[in-house]
Amino acid sequence: MHKILSNEKIAPALFKMELEASVVAKKAAAGQFVMVRIDEKGERIPLTIADRSENTVTIVYQVVGVTTHRLTEKKQGESLLDVVGPLGHKTDNKKIGTVCCIGGGVGIAELYPVAKAYKAAGNEVIVIVGARNKELVIFKDKLSKACDKIFITTDDGSDGEKGFVSDVLKRLIASDKKIDLVYAVGPAIMMKVVADLTRPHKIKTLASLNTVLVDGTGMCGSCRIEVGGETKFACVDGPEFDAHQVNFKELMARQGLFKEQEKHACKIRGILQ
Ligand SMILES: Cc1cc2nc3c(=O)[nH]c(=O)nc-3n(C[C@H](O)[C@H](O)[C@H](O)COP(=O)(O)OP(=O)(O)OC[C@H]3O[C@@H](n4cnc5c(N)ncnc54)[C@H](O)[C@@H]3O)c2cc1C
Ligand code: FES
Repeated sequence: MHKILSNEKIAPALFKMELEASVVAKKAAAGQFVMVRIDEKGERIPLTIADRSENTVTIVYQVVGVTTHRLTEKKQGESLLDVVGPLGHKTDNKKIGTVCCIGGGVGIAELYPVAKAYKAAGNEVIVIVGARNKELVIFKDKLSKACDKIFITTDDGSDGEKGFVSDVLKRLIASDKKIDLVYAVGPAIMMKVVADLTRPHKIKTLASLNTVLVDGTGMCGSCRIEVGGETKFACVDGPEFDAHQVNFKELMARQGLFKEQEKHACKIRGILQ
């Protein structure tokens, strides 16, 4: 059992939960995730380790379906049955030069430990984050401290500049700013656009993929994804991959694989009419 130390709403449909999980916390590194289960009847869902301390891990979750909805009902002092991890490979955060870290939506929280790790390794870190509106630009202070320069974009222009993260990246590339690595985490379409922008300039680009995970151990095959013509499993081979090699078309198709069942489960619980 893992005690919930806090569970707070930080933006519409976005929550931050701090959990007691000392074994995971001691080993966790940037880029890794946990599989969380609320109780014996609950499904396991993967969530990135957005922060950690000696004995705690912090997760940030977007309410999209049954399990994330059930998480919002959990109160401080209650517990989650399982917090398994850290899973997945850690970010290979060596000193490379200038690293541009790009996050979209809930990916902004997932980007924080990555930006922090690249900065700690001695890189110049440029952060570009994008959200639909000002309220959804989370972790702004934390990210600002973790990088050398931060750019914010919103779809409606309510924070930073109006537009997409890719607009800023395009401008940076056009300005001849030397970028040695781009790291992207967020909606699949955003990561695809970033990869398409950097490919002609041969800028190494990594994408942290959010395929549908079931067991998180490489056994069930549900998270499979084609990378460079080979089948990979996001849970054990990733979640980070060379974005220029990822078959994003397949990724987007597979993300909708269980849509009908998810909708059905939401209806049963009265989350959807
Ligand atoms: C490595 C990894 C890290 C992730 N980190 C975060 C994070 O830090 N914060 C966050 O909000 N979300 C994160 N996700 C996505 C998160 O796991 C899903 O939003 C969650 O499982 C939804 O569960 P649900 O029951 O509430 O929704 P459901 O109704 O079951 O699903 C809603 C949508 O969520 C996605 N999804 C559903 N089940 C899974 C699953 N088992 N694995 C992946 N995606 C799924 C699908 O696109 C689906 O259409 C991550 C996914 C992966 C693979
Ligand atoms: S989640 Fe089952 S193989 Fe990756």
